[in-house]
Amino acid sequence: MANAFVARSLDEVRFWSRIMKEHSLFLRLGFRAEDTQLINEANQFYALFENIQNRSMAFTLDTDPQVIVRFNSEVHNAVSHIWVFKRKILGLILTCQLPGANNFPLLVDHTSREANYFRNRLDELNNGKLEPLPDAIIDENVFFLRIMADHAKFISHLLDPSERKLVDMANEFSQDFDQLLFQARDIDSMRPQSQTAPILTQFLDQNRVSVKSLRDFKKTASDLISACKIKSIIHPLLADHVFREAERFLFIIDMFEQHLTGTPVTMRDLEEH
Ligand SMILES: [Fe+2]
Ligand SMILES: [Fe+2]
Repeated sequence: MANAFVARSLDEVRFWSRIMKEHSLFLRLGFRAEDTQLINEANQFYALFENIQNRSMAFTLDTDPQVIVRFNSEVHNAVSHIWVFKRKILGLILTCQLPGANNFPLLVDHTSREANYFRNRLDELNNGKLEPLPDAIIDENVFFLRIMADHAKFISHLLDPSERKLVDMANEFSQDFDQLLFQARDIDSMRPQSQTAPILTQFLDQNRVSVKSLRDFKKTASDLISACKIKSIIHPLLADHVFREAERFLFIIDMFEQHLTGTPVTMRDLEEH
């Protein structure tokens, strides 16, 4: 059990600390040149999460669980601070105090939701209170389907309007994921009666099909952007970032599916992921 706690903790912190670090970069890029205070704050968060990421890479499965409990608390504290920073920026944008800045309100809200998710996960890990499987399946899908729907919208809005075909494709993904999100919320409201193995399995299968195709679209977009073949204001790292988040969702779907069918993933799988 101690080993599982260390493996789960390291897996979450390694993935999400890199995500938090990159959010700091994206937020900074969207500020105006005169927003020096906000730029400094963003740079400090970048350094903070880079340090956390590096330290998480140095721990191993053999690290004393008590050391990881303390590390998780420290990371939890850092994530709480970046959440406050993101919500402050959202407030500034929505009260028109940053005219001409380039961060969409939905993108800032989205990154704060990801911080909140990470913070909850750290709480659950340290308190030994991970949700029972059927609840976790529904909650994780509701969370990630909205994240995927948002990504499609960001891609659509950050592509150059002249990239008509790609914009259409991104909008179709946006529609598709909005529908899946509503379906997931319906299953949510039908709890606990909806929590049968056949319904949850079908739910996961259907979501997996769409996430795979969005993941492939993001990969293609990311390659095209890196090769400078398409017109957009999407940073290459942002394209890779949303691709990795789709991969993460797929990994979670597969993990749930394996649990439902009785072949749980091993700690090694987590470690190698
Ligand atoms: Fe993100
Ligand atoms: Fe995201």
